[in-house]
Amino acid sequence: MLRLTGVVLGLASMALGVAVFHWPDPMLDTLEDSLYVNHFSPASTFALNCTARDNSTIAAQWLRLAYHDMATHNATTGLGGMDGSIAFEYTRAQNIGPGMAESLIDFAVSPNQYVGMSDFIAMGAVNAVIGCGGGPVIPFRGGRKDATEAGPATVPEPQQDLASHIDSFKDQGFNETEMISLVACGHSFGGVRKVDFPLIVTEDVPTGIQTFASKIGFDNTVVTEYLSGSTENVLVVGSNVSTRSDLRIFSSDNNATMQRLASLDTFNQVCADLIGRMIDTVPSDVQLTEPIEPFDYKVTLDTMLFPQGGSLAFLTTLRIIENGKNQTVTLFWKERTGTFCPSEGCSISAFHVNTGVEASLLATLKGVQSFNQHSFNASIDLATSISHFWFEVGNNDGSAPIIVDNHGTNFTIDQDVLIFDPRRSSFTIAGEFMVVGVKTSSPVDVTAFVTTTGPIGGVNPIPMPSNTTISFTLDSAHPPADGYTFYTSDRLPNRYSSSTLHATIDGQAYSLWVPTLSALGV
Ligand code: HEM
Ligand SMILES: *[C@@H]1O[C@H](CO)[C@@H](O)[C@H](O)[C@H]1NC(C)=O
Ligand SMILES: *[C@@H]1O[C@H](CO)[C@@H](O)[C@H](O)[C@H]1NC(C)=O
Ligand SMILES: *[C@@H]1O[C@H](CO)[C@@H](O)[C@H](O)[C@H]1NC(C)=O
Ligand SMILES: *[C@@H]1O[C@H](CO)[C@@H](O)[C@H](O)[C@H]1NC(C)=O
Ligand SMILES: *[C@@H]1O[C@H](CO)[C@@H](O)[C@H](O)[C@H]1NC(C)=O
Ligand SMILES: *[C@@H]1O[C@H](CO)[C@@H](O)[C@H](O)[C@H]1NC(C)=O
Ligand SMILES: *[C@@H]1O[C@H](CO)[C@@H](O)[C@H](O)[C@H]1NC(C)=O
Ligand SMILES: *[C@@H]1O[C@H](CO)[C@@H](O)[C@H](O)[C@H]1NC(C)=O
Ligand SMILES: *[C@@H]1O[C@H](CO)[C@@H](O)[C@H](O)[C@H]1NC(C)=O
Ligand SMILES: *[C@@H]1O[C@H](CO)[C@@H](O)[C@H](O)[C@H]1NC(C)=O
Repeated sequence: MLRLTGVVLGLASMALGVAVFHWPDPMLDTLEDSLYVNHFSPASTFALNCTARDNSTIAAQWLRLAYHDMATHNATTGLGGMDGSIAFEYTRAQNIGPGMAESLIDFAVSPNQYVGMSDFIAMGAVNAVIGCGGGPVIPFRGGRKDATEAGPATVPEPQQDLASHIDSFKDQGFNETEMISLVACGHSFGGVRKVDFPLIVTEDVPTGIQTFASKIGFDNTVVTEYLSGSTENVLVVGSNVSTRSDLRIFSSDNNATMQRLASLDTFNQVCADLIGRMIDTVPSDVQLTEPIEPFDYKVTLDTMLFPQGGSLAFLTTLRIIENGKNQTVTLFWKERTGTFCPSEGCSISAFHVNTGVEASLLATLKGVQSFNQHSFNASIDLATSISHFWFEVGNNDGSAPIIVDNHGTNFTIDQDVLIFDPRRSSFTIAGEFMVVGVKTSSPVDVTAFVTTTGPIGGVNPIPMPSNTTISFTLDSAHPPADGYTFYTSDRLPNRYSSSTLHATIDGQAYSLWVPTLSALGV
């Protein structure tokens, strides 16, 4: 059933292309930053250069994590798949080894209210393949949903027979040919650890691991060494015949598939396709986005509107992919009520351009070397406020400026009644406190829906995201000003990753998404 969904999605993406970013979109915003801007995500950086861990590599651990998370999928029921349920399953014998927990901890800082752990497990697999050995680029889609409990114990194990493995892969949505290829792709990395599998790795291995191939990085050495008879893969040549699962699988079609994979180009193409399908194997009620490519123009997370000294301060940044041109960006905006701006809009030039913002490895493989960030600090008339904004990007070469207007819809400030105030908010020794302003003097209940990453259930040490609501009280340190009354939050929880403010003001419900104070540079 899911196979079908995958095919349909595949066709749809060919027709529709890539995910389009209409600001504000916290999910796409978060994922694109994590994928393409170097400093944003452990899931994009830790596995680079085949960084070693536990006698293997972080890259190998991340790819195994992704497979084991996916392996709970049942194509008949449409349940399970890439859903982060591994966080509830990692203590099972079939998931033995420190790699599962450590890899989940690698990603723990990344999830927020809109993006779960499972998207970062999938992203980790994409980055592992390119980051260690220069494997193929796998398209990334977002939108996975995290499970809240364990799935079935359906990860294949080496002592099972070929028929069981064929059944397992069929349940996961892969036929026999695809099973052979996917195992070869996975076992390009890493190997079998003696401490965890003493009955499989029977000989002494000084490195603690019997690797599947003599090369560490992602490539088809596991295939070519198998075909040439020089392999040391214990799942092929180990003395324990019952655990030679790779041999049974690889030879199950008389080596036809392995012979095809002896071409590195074919191997890379087949692995990109199958690992791509593996990470896109999700419960059938989950709809993934189109593939996410680097956005040409992006209004970044630090966009804020707040009262300051008799006007509204409006801060925003336009991120542009470095393109070799000398560009000058102008911010335009229009008032919310009344008349203040000239008919063409109020405007201001960037006060700072941060050039050379480093792109991730994945971005560089897509031809993006760096980004330029054009930052604006506008002073907005308090009475007429702001309703929407857009940018003009001049090329300084006589050509017409490029209008960046959120794909023709403008960047809309949908309200100025509930605002987050970064200047009044604080990091103190006592913790982080968020201050919001409401444009009324009547008492208001303000709350924030806060997503944190912390131990689940108190006993499980895996930091899966969880939600909590915190409240606000009238802020005695910040008296009313500029038409706003200020409320300060309870201490924000440790390791929170985002929050959504909620308040009902004069009978109308408002909400506002706010990334962490640290992401905003407060
Ligand atoms: C019948 C199917 C499979 C069996 C029986 C199997 C079995 C194993 C075993 C026993 C290990 C050693 C783990 C350790 O010592 O830490 C291992 C490692 C690994 N497996 Fe598989 N596997 C299968 C399929 C796959 C697939 C489909 C993938 C991914 C596409 C995969 C990816 C990996 C990776 C990357 C490692 C190395 C982990 C590391 O070095 O830390 N495996 N596998
Ligand atoms: C990986 O290697 C490159 C090239 O030597 C280096 O520039 C980069 O900092 C390294 N990255 C990590 C995460 O080790
Ligand atoms: C998948 O679901 C079907 C239908 O409920 C069930 O018969 C089958 O045993 C399940 N497969 C596994 C591996 O649990
Ligand atoms: C598996 O599916 C592929 C197409 O996705 C097909 O080319 C191949 O022949 C199939 N293998 C088997 C054993 O059915
Ligand atoms: C081979 O491995 C299996 C599974 O780990 C184990 O049950 C069996 O005892 C092993 N056989 C030998 C001879 O060590
Ligand atoms: C790594 O190898 C060493 C040396 O063989 C061994 O003592 C240690 O237990 C191994 N650790 C893991 C996680 O495999
Ligand atoms: C498959 O290849 C392996 C390794 O070269 C070889 O040992 C085996 O006999 C081959 N099997 C078949 C059926 O050709
Ligand atoms: C870029 O264009 C501006 C405006 O025309 C000009 O002042 C500046 O010198 C140019 N910079 C470079 C590096 O060409
Ligand atoms: C924006 O401008 C105001 C008024 O000039 C100034 O107080 C504030 O520090 C500026 N903010 C930034 C982020 O530059
Ligand atoms: C975008 O803003 C411009 C300038 O205010 C306006 O002329 C245009 O109608 C707006 N477009 C949309 C779709 O709101
Ligand atoms: C936290 O809230 C988000 C957004 O409402 C939701 O998708 C997620 O499942 C929640 N997480 C938990 C652990 O309840």
